[in-house]
Amino acid sequence: MFPLADRVSQVADSITLAVSAKAKAMKKAGVDVVGFGAGEPDFDTPAFIKDAAKAALDKGQTKYTPTPCLPELRQAIAEKFNRENGLPYKPEQITTGAGGKHCLYMAFMAVLNPGDEVLIPSPYWVSYPEQVKLAGGVPRVIRGEEKNGFKLTPQQLDAAITRKTKVFVINSPSNPAGHAYTPEELKALADVIARHPHVIVFSDEIYEKLVFDGLRFASFAQVKPELFDRTLTFNCHSKSFAMTGWRIGYIGGPKPAIDAINKLQSQMTSHITSFTQPAAATALTDPRGAETVEQMRRQFEQRGRHMWQRLSDLPKVTCVRPQGAFYCFPNVSAYFGKGAGGAKITDAITFSSALLEQAHVAVVPGNDSGFDTHVRLSFATSMEQIDKGLDRIGEFLKKLA
Ligand SMILES: Cc1ncc(COP(=O)(O)O)c(C=O)c1O
Repeated sequence: MFPLADRVSQVADSITLAVSAKAKAMKKAGVDVVGFGAGEPDFDTPAFIKDAAKAALDKGQTKYTPTPCLPELRQAIAEKFNRENGLPYKPEQITTGAGGKHCLYMAFMAVLNPGDEVLIPSPYWVSYPEQVKLAGGVPRVIRGEEKNGFKLTPQQLDAAITRKTKVFVINSPSNPAGHAYTPEELKALADVIARHPHVIVFSDEIYEKLVFDGLRFASFAQVKPELFDRTLTFNCHSKSFAMTGWRIGYIGGPKPAIDAINKLQSQMTSHITSFTQPAAATALTDPRGAETVEQMRRQFEQRGRHMWQRLSDLPKVTCVRPQGAFYCFPNVSAYFGKGAGGAKITDAITFSSALLEQAHVAVVPGNDSGFDTHVRLSFATSMEQIDKGLDRIGEFLKKLA
């Protein structure tokens, strides 16, 4: 046995990865799998952003940069927060990291002491509890209810806060359920936080551009300016600009928190890749950025409505209508206890495995998000694939007995 640190065993193995590895292996073996597992846009990064990175390379921007990032990117991010979110961050209140994931991880590392509790509404993005544990904190899940569209109520939040609560994590629009809070709903939660001065907020706004049905996106600290000094706002280029592989994330927050994160980052990764930084700034400042984001948003909206309708038409399946991001999160528990070609379906994992093996459709079981009754389907794929996959799911459900 190689002598590993205890912290490795404290982190859960990802069920999601196991299912997607199986789907990949089947595809490689020539099986026509319809993939609804993707957590990334199926669009390419816009050409003008790629060109900015190429130009930076040609100009020789291949050396170390300051830890938070180049001043021009810091400025562009601060301006974006001011212009689009009404958040008055100054450049020194901004830092960047290798994607939204790394930004969140650094922030947990910067604020949590052993035993500090972090409130995480479910269903949640898989990495929050694991990152909290890695940073020595204790994840406390507040269970969302389907009848409330998975949205946390102010009463639930108030009841969950204890003396040990250090951070409240809010993710709107959400991965995996696609629910998104209206500014009024967000304000009602912010009012609760305002009454508990020892709680700080991590607002994960990485899907902010992907909202549907006319929903108005609002930043958490925007709806309650008195919480501006208690909030870290997370965003990234991954989903908005179809740049998942570039690993560009950013944080706005109080200067002491940003300085602490930079201190950690300076000893870890130093900074994000140099020649992606001018491209990241271009994405935020060039008007073509907003145009391409809007084109992608419209497509996701159409696909989301279609997938949700098709899921809702399936017998005994319920699904909260997604108002953002690119996921549907249907409840398939009515089929638990049934058999599928020799396999017994008992939870979302066995449901997903049987669906993959027998109907060749890859979905993500909700277990890693705190729900073993639901599965996640991404609509970051074409309408044809959505129809083909939903036809197959319909046939699969008919055969269950
Ligand atoms: C809610 C949420 N936060 C953060 C991330 C991480 O984003 P990135 O790919 O930029 O690391 C993801 C990625 O799927 C996500 O869904």
